[in-house]
Amino acid sequence: MDLPTTGQVPRVNTDRIEEMGVEAPTKQRPLLQVTGVNKTFGSVHVLHDVDFAVYPGSVTSLIGDNGAGKSTLVKTIAGIHPRDSGTISFNGEPVDIQSPKDTADLGIEVVYQDLALCENLDIVQNLFLGREKLHRGLLDEQAMEQAARDTLASLSVRTVKSVRQLVSSLSGGQRQTVAIAKAVLWNSKVVLLDEPTAALGVAQTKQVLDLVRRLAEQGLGVVLISHNMNDVLEVSDRVSAMYLGRVVADVPVTPATTREFLVELITSGQSGDVGTARASAAEGVESPQGGTDV
Ligand SMILES: Nc1ncnc2c1ncn2[C@@H]1O[C@H](COP(=O)(O)OP(=O)(O)OP(=O)(O)O)[C@@H](O)[C@H]1O
Ligand SMILES: [Mg+2]
Repeated sequence: MDLPTTGQVPRVNTDRIEEMGVEAPTKQRPLLQVTGVNKTFGSVHVLHDVDFAVYPGSVTSLIGDNGAGKSTLVKTIAGIHPRDSGTISFNGEPVDIQSPKDTADLGIEVVYQDLALCENLDIVQNLFLGREKLHRGLLDEQAMEQAARDTLASLSVRTVKSVRQLVSSLSGGQRQTVAIAKAVLWNSKVVLLDEPTAALGVAQTKQVLDLVRRLAEQGLGVVLISHNMNDVLEVSDRVSAMYLGRVVADVPVTPATTREFLVELITSGQSGDVGTARASAAEGVESPQGGTDV
């Protein structure tokens, strides 16, 4: 994976994709497409024939109640959980994802809710952990510091005083920002964010949501998992709703999309003509407990 020397968040290079003889992804053509994915843990069938698509330059929110399968889907895409069946395509080509390294090599990065940052290391050390930049066999501290500063600047992050600050001294929102910066530092094309605002206050949530929008404006395909429907409506271009392990709706967000519509999809798997709750209900699966912040 190449480290962008300018520190700019890379755009999806559609010219190069076209040169490679592959149809370039567009807002209509997914960058990442999951088709018919099933995942079981022992005898528990968690993902049922899941279809899910991520478009470049778009924010797709993945919504669903506690236990609906959102994190499992993300971890299956990330190569943490092997899937039982189904395909994952990137740029229209099926890809063989066996491990998180395969996903990272494709330019797919995941920010997990627990963030996996090291508190006792500073921002630069965290950003480059395991992928340190070397110069003549030694750590190239200057280049890493500059790239860290450039990346935060390109994401319009202004609240972090120094890239040499320890992560333990950062607020929750700043940590989330560092985790997102770490994900986009590596030529990423798709970023999956699992509940990035769950633990944040109002101002910090706004900062992270602004950042989510900026990533999409820079051409990335962004997936946002959130239980807050106001946030979802504010930043999303599309919404995929999961209910008891199935994707029951994949709809664009328009000015007419309401919070009530999304909440109904989450709680009953159906709203008006949209959704397929009946298939799940017929299986007699117990309904999950509520956890939606509405
Ligand atoms: N490693 C695992 N082993 C066994 N079961 C699991 C495992 N991971 C998840 N599950 C089960 O899969 C189902 C979906 O869990 P998942 O974490 O994907 O839900 P979620 O939609 O992310 O929920 P939340 O909104 O609470 O984060 C749950 O019933 C959960 O208990
Ligand atoms: Mg989850």
